[in-house]
Amino acid sequence: MQDFDFLTEKDIYFDSACQSLRPRPVIDALNRYYTEHNSCGERVKYAWGRKTDNLVEETRDRMLKYLKLKSRDYFVSFTLNTTYGINLLLNQFKAGEFDKVMTSDIEHNSPFLATMAFARRQDIPREIIVRNDDGSINVDDYDFSNALVVVNAASNIDGRKLLNIKEVIKTVHAAGGTIIIDAAQALAHSAEILQKTEADAICTSAHKMYGPSLGVMIVRRDLLGKFEPNFIGGGMVDDVFEDHFALSADGNPDHVYTRFESGLQAWGEIIAFGEALKWLEKLPKSAKKDFERNYTRLFEYLDSQPRIHLINREANPTMSFYIEGLDSHLVGGALSDEGIMARTGYFCVHYYLDHVKHYPPLIRFSLGYHVRESDIDKAIETLERMLG
Ligand SMILES: Cc1ncc(COP(=O)(O)O)c(C=O)c1O
Repeated sequence: MQDFDFLTEKDIYFDSACQSLRPRPVIDALNRYYTEHNSCGERVKYAWGRKTDNLVEETRDRMLKYLKLKSRDYFVSFTLNTTYGINLLLNQFKAGEFDKVMTSDIEHNSPFLATMAFARRQDIPREIIVRNDDGSINVDDYDFSNALVVVNAASNIDGRKLLNIKEVIKTVHAAGGTIIIDAAQALAHSAEILQKTEADAICTSAHKMYGPSLGVMIVRRDLLGKFEPNFIGGGMVDDVFEDHFALSADGNPDHVYTRFESGLQAWGEIIAFGEALKWLEKLPKSAKKDFERNYTRLFEYLDSQPRIHLINREANPTMSFYIEGLDSHLVGGALSDEGIMARTGYFCVHYYLDHVKHYPPLIRFSLGYHVRESDIDKAIETLERMLG
């Protein structure tokens, strides 16, 4: 694809689940901010600052539209990454708000550890939900009464999705619980699963959505009452007295996003993320078809090899496997010698992959829209040689 014109023939990048490659329009938008209107947002009256403010505002609106959510119900704040967003929320819930915290067995360390720390801090039990092999949750098996639930919408092992996400959210709410969705792996290629959701909060990373390094939090306005501000500073207050302050988020519903944005923000990255959302929305059907054909072909090849143990049950841009008799880290090195950039190990899902499944370290191919047919040829050719 011409938007990835900087990629040479030799570079085969299969690590999009970690960070997508950024298309030209996103890189150009970031450069434009630095060269044409470098300025602080939210606080300056000069023309560059006004331009920055308008573009940042557009990105917030665009994010909500991408998920088909209403600004009456939700707001968008920016932060560092998904991990930071989840921790920012969990660290600010008032003591005593929940009777327990629940997460699932297939989580990335980001929610897995944050819920562990939350349970310890709040001195409440933590329960691990066992996800079905297809990623869904049997809601009847769990009691969500007054629980805080933090689960992913898609896994970073093999892309399996929380297929019954709407049912899960409804059941949690009916029991008086609160649910935060880790959408780090869901929003680049499977955004529809989270559209019109009623989750209490959604945390994601722009860098996994063809955007720059940036965290995104989409939070229900009516969740704010459960928080106690404990991470605060510039950009968040309308007035400050000797020993108290007035939060802008409390004084003006249009500034509610400031509740989680302390200090100066990554204005250029936020603006460039708006460009990434635009790019994803305008992506031609042919690019999506090529993408699907490419990852399906690679999946089918891996699935057909008797010595390859593929974790995926079905084709997905993210696929993990190990090869019988071969050390995955050595395989990763050999792939790298051929220009193929793939991940090896447990991809921050230690609990499930190592301690539940007892898998050896894995190899992960995670594809993005930049992948060419010739990359798949090369990967298959290289694996064929390894398999002898
Ligand atoms: C499912 C999932 N959740 C959370 C994260 C953490 O994302 P970040 O490192 O951007 O905070 C990742 C990163 O790979 C992920 O795949």
